[in-house]
Amino acid sequence: MVSVNDIRTQFLEYFGRHGHAIRPSGPLVPRNDPTLMFTNAGMVPFKDYFTGRAKPSSPRAVTSQKCVRAGGKHNDLDNVGYTARHHTFFEMLGNFSFGDYFKEMAIELAWKLVTEEFGLDKERLLVTVYAEDEEAFSLWRKIAGLAEDKVIRIGTSDNFWQMGDTGPCGPCSEIFYDHGADIPGGPPGSFNEDGDRFIEIWNLVFMQFEQVAGGERHDLPRPSIDTGMGLERIAAVLQGVHDNYDIDLFRHLIEAVEGATRAKATPQNRASHRVIADHLRATSFLIADGVLPSNDGRGYVLRRIMRRAMRHAHLLGASEPVIYGLVPVLIREMGQAYPELIRAEALITETIRLEESRFQRTLSRGLSLLEDATGSLHQGDMLDGETAFKLYDTYGFPLDLTQDALKARGIGVDLAGFTDAMERQREEARASWAGSGEAATEEVYLALKEEHGATEFLGYTTESAEAAVLALVREGQKAETLSAGESGAVIVNQTPFYGESGGQVGDTGTIRSEDGGVFRVSDTQKKADGLFVHLGEMVEGSLSPSVAVRMEVDSGRRTSVRANHSATHLLHKALRDTLGLHVAQKGSLVAPDRLRFDFSHPKPVGEDEVRLVEDRANAVILQDAPVSTRLMDRDAAIKAGAMALFGEKYGDEVRVVSMGSEPGEDGETRDYSVELCGGTHVRATGEIGLVKVVGESAVAAGVRRLEALTGEAARRYLAEQDRRVKELAGRLKVRPEELVERVEGLVEERRRLERELTEAKKQLAMGGGKGGAEPVLEIGAFKVMARMVEGVALKDLRGLVDEGKQTLGSGIVAIVGVADGKAGLAVGVTSDLTEKFNAIDLVRLGSEVLGGKGGGGRPDMAQAGGPDGSRAEAALAAITSRVEELAA
Ligand code: ALA
Repeated sequence: MVSVNDIRTQFLEYFGRHGHAIRPSGPLVPRNDPTLMFTNAGMVPFKDYFTGRAKPSSPRAVTSQKCVRAGGKHNDLDNVGYTARHHTFFEMLGNFSFGDYFKEMAIELAWKLVTEEFGLDKERLLVTVYAEDEEAFSLWRKIAGLAEDKVIRIGTSDNFWQMGDTGPCGPCSEIFYDHGADIPGGPPGSFNEDGDRFIEIWNLVFMQFEQVAGGERHDLPRPSIDTGMGLERIAAVLQGVHDNYDIDLFRHLIEAVEGATRAKATPQNRASHRVIADHLRATSFLIADGVLPSNDGRGYVLRRIMRRAMRHAHLLGASEPVIYGLVPVLIREMGQAYPELIRAEALITETIRLEESRFQRTLSRGLSLLEDATGSLHQGDMLDGETAFKLYDTYGFPLDLTQDALKARGIGVDLAGFTDAMERQREEARASWAGSGEAATEEVYLALKEEHGATEFLGYTTESAEAAVLALVREGQKAETLSAGESGAVIVNQTPFYGESGGQVGDTGTIRSEDGGVFRVSDTQKKADGLFVHLGEMVEGSLSPSVAVRMEVDSGRRTSVRANHSATHLLHKALRDTLGLHVAQKGSLVAPDRLRFDFSHPKPVGEDEVRLVEDRANAVILQDAPVSTRLMDRDAAIKAGAMALFGEKYGDEVRVVSMGSEPGEDGETRDYSVELCGGTHVRATGEIGLVKVVGESAVAAGVRRLEALTGEAARRYLAEQDRRVKELAGRLKVRPEELVERVEGLVEERRRLERELTEAKKQLAMGGGKGGAEPVLEIGAFKVMARMVEGVALKDLRGLVDEGKQTLGSGIVAIVGVADGKAGLAVGVTSDLTEKFNAIDLVRLGSEVLGGKGGGGRPDMAQAGGPDGSRAEAALAAITSRVEELAA
C-alpha cells in the first residue's frame, strides 16, 4: 500500500521532474497579509509572485503546504469529527506557474499525474469547468479524451476560486473521483451532488485576477496556475478507502488515541477519536509555527481547537491530560516531512500539557453546569445565550465547544443572546478604545515602496553614508519639502540606519544636506516590507526630494544596542542549556539602555537558574570570541542547528549570526550560539563586557521575560549595588564580607530580645521578680524590700532602688540584679533612717556573700558587685538578718 509519505514525495518529485522548484511548506501564519488568519491554501506563500509584487527565483514551483482551515474565511472546525473529509489541518499538494505555463499545460500535467503516475482508472474520473470557460472545456476534451458529459460546466462560485476577500483569484476546474455506484450521491452540479459518491480530488485554478478591497478586480500581470490537491483525500483514493480517517496516517494516530484513552473506537464514539487525531495535528503544527494559546486572534483559534479536543478526550473517559502524550506519535508520522515538528517537540508537548491541566479544572464543572441548564431541553431547543456566555467567560468554554457538546442532542445555542451578553461586557472596554488612524499612514508607505522599491541597508558595515532623498512625508502625506520645525519622515535610496525589526530598536542620528539642512532622526522604522522610514524633525534649513544627504547614525547608542542584541543571543542559548530545549524566543526588545528577552517556559525561572544562565553567558563574553555573520541557504542553516524563530518568514538566503564556542559531542569545538538574525552585533563577544540579569517576570501564560543590562549599564548597576553594601557595612561597623554574619547576628539578637521582653512582661504582670518571699517585709517597726531581678545591669539597679524607696516612704531597699551569672547589688535607706542603718555597711555585707569586695556610696544609697550570681538570695538574707539585729 502506498503511504501518505510516499504520495507526498511522488507528487513533489513528479513536478520536480517537470521543471518545478521543490519548495518547503511556508509557515501556517502568513506574513505580509493581515487579512488572512492562517495559510489556507498552497498558493498563499506565493501571493506576491502572482500579483507581480515580488519576483520568484523560479517561475515554477511545487509544494506540500501546511494548511489550517479554522477561523477566517475557510472554517471547517465545526464539521471535523462528524464527516469523512473535514480537517482543521491538512496538507495541500500544489503545482504553481508564476506567469509561465497556463491552462493547457496545467491540465496536461494534472491528467498525466492522476492517470499515469497514480494509475487511477480514467473511467472513474470526471471534471468540472467554470461555465464560461470554453477553453478549459475543450482542453479537457482534447487532452483527456473525456466524453462531453464528463466535463461538467458549473456557473457558481464553486468554480471560481478566491483566496479570501482580497488576493489573486480566477476560474477553476476540478477533478472528481467516482467512488462507485454503491455509495449514494450524484455528480457535481446535480441535485444530490452533496452525496459521497463523487469526491473532488484536485482543483486547478487559472489565476487571472486580483481581487482588491472594494469589490474591484484587476488583471494579474500574467496568467498563472495554482492547483490544490488535498493529500488526505488522494491518499484515501489511492489506498482504496472512502474515508480520509481510514488512511494509514490517521489510523496510526487513532490507534494512539485508543491507547491513551483506553477507549476503542466504536461507531458511537469515533467522532471523538477523529477530533483528537485531527486537532492534535492542527495544534502541534500551529505551535511549531509560533502560535501559542491565548484569548484573542490566532491564539484563540488554537485554544478553541485544543479545548475542543480536550472535551472529546474527556468524553472518552480521560480524567488526566492525555493529548500531549500523543505528540511523539505525530512526530513519528510527520516529522520527517516537517522537521519543524521535531525542532519544536519540547515546546509543543509543554504547551499542550499546560493547557490540558489548566482546562481540566473547569471542564467537568462547566459540563455539569451545561447538563443542569439543558436537562429539560429537547431536540430543536436552544440553550440560552446567558448560560453559553457564562460557560465561555467563567469556565473557558469556547462557544463552538458548547455547540459541539450539544450537537449530538440536537440542541442549539441562542447566538444572539450570547453576543448580547458578550457585548454588554465589552462595552466598557470599547468606550476606552480609540481608532489610531494608523491604516491611512501605512498607505503612503505602500505607495512609496511601489514607486521606489526597497531601501538598501548599509548599516551592517557602516554607520555613515551618502544617500539621495527619494521622498518626504508630512502628516501621513507625501510632501515636497520639510522645513525647520516640521516633523516628518525621510525616505532615501540607501541608509546605514537600522529599521526597527527583530526586537532591535530603530537607529537615531542625523541627516544633513549640503546646503545646511539638518534633520534629526528620532526613530527608524521598516514599512511595506523593506522601505526604511527615517522619522524625526527638521531642525535647521530644509530638505526636498532628490538632494544628496549625509546620513550619520548615533554611534554610541548603536554600540550599546549592538552589545544588547548579541547578549540576547547568548542568553537565549544559555536559557536553552539551563532550562531545556522547549525554550524558544517569543519576542525581544533590544534598546540602548537595556534588553528584554521573552521565551516559552511554563514556570518562573528560579534564582539559581538565573545565576547559571548569567554564568554561562558571561563565560562566552570572556572568551572574547569573534562574532561571525554569514549568509546561508536557509535549509542548510537550520540543518546546521541555527535557532530560527518558528513561523518567521525567512528568504531562501538567510543571515546567520554565530558567536562563542563550546565543546561538541564529538570532542570538536562548535559554535556556542547560532541564530538566524537580521540585527546588528558586536564584532567580538568581549565588547558586551558583562551581562547582568536584573528582572524575571511573567508576560503571558507559558511565556517568561528576562530583563538584563550589559556593558557600562551593567557595571553601573553593580557599582551601585556595591556602594549599598559598603554603606550598610559601614553602618553596622563590620567589613562587607562580615555583613551577612552580622545581620544574621542582629536578627538572632532581636529574636532573643523579643523573647525576653515577652518574659519580662509576664513577670511584671505577675507582680515582681524572682526572690521567693514577699518583697516587703516588716522587721520590727521597719519596712524592708529585698528583691532579686534578672537581666538588669548594675547601673540600672539604682533606679529600681529609688523607686523602692519611694514606694516604702520609709524603709530599707536591697536589690540584687543577676546578669550573665554575675551579680550587682544596690541598697538604699530612706533619709529618716540613715542614723540607724547605713547603706554602705549593708552593701558591703551583701557584696561579701556574693564573693565581691568593697562597694561604696552614701549612707542612703550604696552599690557593689560580686562574681557569684547564684548567691543572690543568700546576700539578701544576710542583709535582712543584719537589719533584724539592728532593729532589735
Ligand atoms: N488554491 C486552490 C484551492 O485551495 C487550489 O483549492
